[in-house]
Amino acid sequence: MANRVIVSSGHKIFFEGDSFSQLNKFLGKRKYTSYYILCDGNTLHFCLPKLILGCPKLSEAEIIELESGELSKNLEVCAHIWQTLIENQADRNSLLINLGGGVVSDIGGFVASVYKRGIDFINIPTTLLAMADASVGGKNGVDFLSLKNIIGTFSPPSNVYIHHSFLETLPNNHYKNGMAEIFKIALVSDNVFWSELQNEKITSNSRFCISKSVELKNKIVLADLYDKGQRQILNFGHTIGHAIESYFLGSPKFLLHGEAIVKGMIIESHISFQKKLISKKVLNDVVKSLVNYFQAELINFEAKTLLKLMLNDKKASDQQLKFCLLSGIGKAKIDVKVNESEILKAIDFYRDLHHA
Ligand SMILES: NC(=O)c1ccc[n+]([C@@H]2O[C@H](COP(=O)([O-])OP(=O)(O)OC[C@H]3O[C@@H](n4cnc5c(N)ncnc54)[C@H](O)[C@@H]3O)[C@@H](O)[C@H]2O)c1
Repeated sequence: MANRVIVSSGHKIFFEGDSFSQLNKFLGKRKYTSYYILCDGNTLHFCLPKLILGCPKLSEAEIIELESGELSKNLEVCAHIWQTLIENQADRNSLLINLGGGVVSDIGGFVASVYKRGIDFINIPTTLLAMADASVGGKNGVDFLSLKNIIGTFSPPSNVYIHHSFLETLPNNHYKNGMAEIFKIALVSDNVFWSELQNEKITSNSRFCISKSVELKNKIVLADLYDKGQRQILNFGHTIGHAIESYFLGSPKFLLHGEAIVKGMIIESHISFQKKLISKKVLNDVVKSLVNYFQAELINFEAKTLLKLMLNDKKASDQQLKFCLLSGIGKAKIDVKVNESEILKAIDFYRDLHHA
């Protein structure tokens, strides 16, 4: 992956090998008045020293630390960041550097996109999920009233710098968490990549998986920056997955984003089958692959409460649930109307899997 660059909308995504030197070049050219580094407790400890070693100029940055985890993705934490920026007299020519996983880039991108009507920010992802997915595409935001990403903006970073060595300290369960979005991108957009992911040599090659995932996501995003059409294929697994994630948010059974999305993909694959968009064989192959790789445990939830959360989801209009569903391996169909009984049937299928 050395020195690879992917061009996105008005910015670039630099990959390892060259990413710190590219960041130094960028900082040298842009002449920002001040730098702010947003991190959480873990990235402060594990990643910030590496970043400053690679980019000594950033030793003068003001550090803003969040508590790690999804519960920080809220408006109160935004207010704390805005207050810090104001107290430090951050002007419109300041740069916010998001050093962390998807939580840091989602909240940091949002905060920067509205502070003084928008200041520059860059993403330096430190989890597999953020390198392969969340740091790319310009969607950012926070959770509100138990609803995922319900407040946010479309605002691309000035650049993204992917430095693979940050993954060295990432806990194991966060590796699979990131692979969930990689499997999803393959499933909705590239049957060859999906076949490759059935091989353990490929799933353990994170450099290849990140690079391929970013390339595929970027292509989809460039064709539909504001998520009005085809970009919505990236929502596969997310209508149910977000509802499951919200359902358990803050509870002792708290699920990682990727863990919830895997369950969402299994349930939504069954809905795709009910809608005759995929055959029984494709359904079985997809589910087998997800269950084998992710070894997802059964979780119990109240189906009716889940339905309520889904209706509040930003993809529901006029109380009509619309899903992005699979229409084959590597293909997806957006805006498919789905009724309650189809959802409940698919949830039963998910439950039966674990009793089989
Ligand atoms: N904007 C998008 O396009 C998009 C896409 C997918 C997901 N997301 C969002 O991303 C979020 C999930 O992101 P995530 O899984 O990266 O979660 P996260 O940011 O919470 O990071 C996961 C955990 O890993 C720790 N961590 C991060 N980097 C580390 C490192 N290098 N070493 C050790 N520990 C490290 C963090 O402190 C945290 O505890 C969700 O909120 C989801 O909604 C956004």
